[in-house]
Amino acid sequence: MRILGIESSCDETAAAVVEDGRRVLSSVIASQVEEHKLYGGVVPEIASRRHSEAIVGVTRQALDEAGISLSGIDAIAVTYAPGLIGALLVGVNFAKGLALSSGLPLVPVHHLRSHIAANYITNPELEPPFLCLVVSGGHTHIIQVEDYTKLRILGCTRDDAAGEAFDKAARAMGMPYPGGVHLDKVAQDGNPEAFRFPRPSVDGAPLDFSFSGLKTSVINLIHNASQKGQTLPVPDLAASFRKAVVGCLVHNFTEAARQTGSKKLVIAGGVSANSLLRSELERVCAENGWKFYRPALNLCGDNAAMVGAQGYYEYLAGSRAGMDLNACAEMPVDQG
Ligand code: KG4
Ligand code: ZN
Repeated sequence: MRILGIESSCDETAAAVVEDGRRVLSSVIASQVEEHKLYGGVVPEIASRRHSEAIVGVTRQALDEAGISLSGIDAIAVTYAPGLIGALLVGVNFAKGLALSSGLPLVPVHHLRSHIAANYITNPELEPPFLCLVVSGGHTHIIQVEDYTKLRILGCTRDDAAGEAFDKAARAMGMPYPGGVHLDKVAQDGNPEAFRFPRPSVDGAPLDFSFSGLKTSVINLIHNASQKGQTLPVPDLAASFRKAVVGCLVHNFTEAARQTGSKKLVIAGGVSANSLLRSELERVCAENGWKFYRPALNLCGDNAAMVGAQGYYEYLAGSRAGMDLNACAEMPVDQG
């Protein structure tokens, strides 16, 4: 079964053709990042306009690269939540038009579920149940994936998402948007013991996260130094900050594994590209005899192949949208 996936939740316009939820026949991404970089973050109005301009060409290219026309597609899957509302609406309305004109079924896909599904593409043997740490620019969740479409949230962030914390810290260190990937790179040459940052935990909720204090602490350190005319060594700052964030993520994730008895640990979302997070979890899982799965680097960030993958399982579970499908800026992953 071939699914055309469409993604426009943030600043990438993407379309892909995926067979049986696992095999990517094509995957096209038009990134707007260079334009948003000028403003230090995503400008929602610009994002919506660029999606409108790009979506037809990107979809056509995805079909061309898969070597099929719309008649070779069995269903259209589209990201409908959560994300920037104006951006989501472009993909949703385009997919509705395409479904109406072609007569193909329309399948709504939750953005975080699709991030998890990126793992089905990279790891053909991976099947639920498993425990998943979803870490993106907007979300940080520990999720029990009981089945492809049955999920339970065990923990989440009380304030900033991990990606947001990385981006804001990177910005304070003078790195361009989105800073997470730059911070990760610069941290390779730094001393992770140079600065001591707090490892916040949430009282009475050991699987929840809080990153805003950690973020403020690095920003204050940089500002205080600059007020005294000092500059701090950026690689050391980056390495110490990365160690603190990854420390929190790994600590709560392994705690969740112990509490649930899960032996299959999976990571997903933009921050799952972080090199320290990947190596630390690799080590911890090996020590405990747990299996560790992560998406290929090119599937960690936003793309439509993961929408096609999750769309397949949502389709099998009977999920269909009508012409009244709306986009939602927020939607819990266990209800999507
Ligand atoms: O999943 P994603 O592409 O978009 C959302 O759904 O939010 O995640 C983007 C986030 C950004 O905050 C970006 O800085 C972060 O993922 N990111 C990283 C790395 N690569 C991307 N954070 C830390 N280390 C990385 N290597
Ligand atoms: Zn995302």
